[in-house]
Amino acid sequence: MTDRNKPVAHIGVIGAGTMGAGIAQVAAQSGFAVMLVDLADEWLDRGLQAITSGLDRSVAKGRLDDEERDAILGRIEGSTRIAHVADCELVIEVVTEQLDVKQRVFRDVAAVVDTDAIIASNTSSISITALAATVPNPGRVAGMHFFNPAPVLKLVEVIRGLQTSDETVARVHELAEQMGKTPVDVADTAGFVANRLLLPMINEAVFCLAEGVATAEDIDTVMKLGAAHPMGPLALADMIGLDVCLAIMEVLQREFGDDKYRPAPLLRQMVAAGRLGRKTGRGFHTYDNVDA
Ligand code: CAA
Repeated sequence: MTDRNKPVAHIGVIGAGTMGAGIAQVAAQSGFAVMLVDLADEWLDRGLQAITSGLDRSVAKGRLDDEERDAILGRIEGSTRIAHVADCELVIEVVTEQLDVKQRVFRDVAAVVDTDAIIASNTSSISITALAATVPNPGRVAGMHFFNPAPVLKLVEVIRGLQTSDETVARVHELAEQMGKTPVDVADTAGFVANRLLLPMINEAVFCLAEGVATAEDIDTVMKLGAAHPMGPLALADMIGLDVCLAIMEVLQREFGDDKYRPAPLLRQMVAAGRLGRKTGRGFHTYDNVDA
């Protein structure tokens, strides 16, 4: 059982990529002390730099002053050692979408935190039940799925694994709200809700492109102007990362055993070619700034 009386003051974030850095920023902006962990200094520095740029943008837009930005940055510490999340009451795992890698992180985190610390995963498609099974006291494990860009988008899908306790779900709800987010409960099924809806739409957009139904620009324009989406599905795929999109489609197809989720061959080709979207400067669209 988790101890509800123990307030969360320290949050560990494992993984300093786009989502990890975004979540660390949100947590620090909400007053939590954050320990951001990644394997290499280089990745950590990139994450911390992204947070600094995001906060600088808020200063430039007048939403924060210099003092507030410095206070937020002062609440974020970086480390290359998982042991440094030992005093965190909540640790959010945000590493690559591979079950074995995530399970290893879960085991490493569980070895250093208190037995009542909540261990959450930001996974976009992997079973929370399978992650929870790797740690003692699996009742304190839940999914906490943020959306990119995490500082902007308000949703957190709260995923209850088979063994997740009511207590943990309640605490994760409270924590998401303290971070200014709206939590929504979803069951532990492949893709949860958001990705089960979003990814097949993106995949279908790739089929449309491959079949010559319309150009990439026009497919995106159709969904922006015809369905009021903030960005088109192919631009969104580029933002998520085409490798991540492919991985999610593969999970949906495998877990549901339904070929309606088969990844578009062009999506596979793009990934094989290393055209992964914004992060490589080229996906369905091209980007001047590789870090965009
Ligand atoms: N980090 C922080 N803030 C950002 C940002 C980022 N990466 N990108 C944009 N913003 C902020 C801007 O500063 C701006 O703030 P203000 O209006 O307060 O000044 C605001 O967001 C709007 O940005 P822009 O004016 O530059 O551009 P926009 O209006 O086109 O919005 C967008 C950009 C927020 C990305 C918007 O297009 C959008 O919401 N797109 C859809 C994103 C989406 O669907 N995300 C879900 C992806 S799926 C996922 O994440 C789950 C998964 O598991 C794969």
